[in-house]
Amino acid sequence: MQRWVGRVALVTGASSGIGYEVARSLVKHGMKVVGCSRNTSKIQELADDLVGEAGSLTPMQCDVSKEDEVLSMFDNIKSSFGGVDVCVNNAGLSHDAPLLTGDTEQWRNMFEVNVLGLCVCTREAVKSMKERGVDDGHIIQLNSAVGHFQYANNPGGHFYSATKFAVTSLVEGLRKELLKDNTHIRVSSLSPGLTETEFSYRMFAKHPEIAKKKYSQIENLKSVDIADAVIYALSAPKHVQIHELSIYPTEMAT
Ligand SMILES: NC(=O)c1ccc[n+]([C@@H]2O[C@H](COP(=O)([O-])OP(=O)(O)OC[C@H]3O[C@@H](n4cnc5c(N)ncnc54)[C@H](OP(=O)(O)O)[C@@H]3O)[C@@H](O)[C@H]2O)c1
Repeated sequence: MQRWVGRVALVTGASSGIGYEVARSLVKHGMKVVGCSRNTSKIQELADDLVGEAGSLTPMQCDVSKEDEVLSMFDNIKSSFGGVDVCVNNAGLSHDAPLLTGDTEQWRNMFEVNVLGLCVCTREAVKSMKERGVDDGHIIQLNSAVGHFQYANNPGGHFYSATKFAVTSLVEGLRKELLKDNTHIRVSSLSPGLTETEFSYRMFAKHPEIAKKKYSQIENLKSVDIADAVIYALSAPKHVQIHELSIYPTEMAT
């Protein structure tokens, strides 16, 4: 991680779960991290805890489904830090919204955050890298196991799964465009199985017992396991692209 010391990482969705641990880990490895989400109070608390570590954490409020907010966040990053060297597109969510009975606004929200938000942040991050001649930048997409297959008995998650299948496809497309542009900017897709975060509690906000049951059946992944995978992808030598990393709980049925 030595070559990333002092460089700038954007982590979206840094107020909770995986993004929170990724932000913490990157700061400990000496990066200047900008952590964004809609609610930044937890990011500010983490930033305060991390004072004295090798890097720094700066909270920025941003709803990644709103393009104007994303563009002004990139402007702020440019004026405060110069630009983005690493972009971890982690912000994401699922509503409990089956295909036969789900709410259209909930489908739209998942698409706007998990797909469009990720694409706009990716485009702006690569633009920032190119305008500063950064040829070793890195885009990390938080995909999911369900970006590759559907779980049985998970009707509320079918649309969410489709947004992650989109991420799988977008990673392939992005890699082709980056190669065509003769850059060495890398893209990595990380696809975790069930990870114990606020994710399921938010998905089943009206029925926390469902989330509790989900997380109690096997020994699930922890956010730090995914933060470790981010460090692994970033640490790979420049000629090595960790293209797709599937990370499952050992006990998870597929
Ligand atoms: N947990 C799992 O089992 C699992 C498995 C595979 C993949 N993933 C993926 O991992 C990523 C992180 O999920 P998690 O498990 O850490 O969930 P989480 O604990 O619910 O955290 C989600 C984060 O995304 C942020 N976020 C949500 N909507 C946003 C928006 N419109 N704009 C900006 N930030 C937004 C939230 O912050 P605010 O609410 O403050 O905005 C929060 O910081 C997601 O992409 C998820 O799909 C999770």
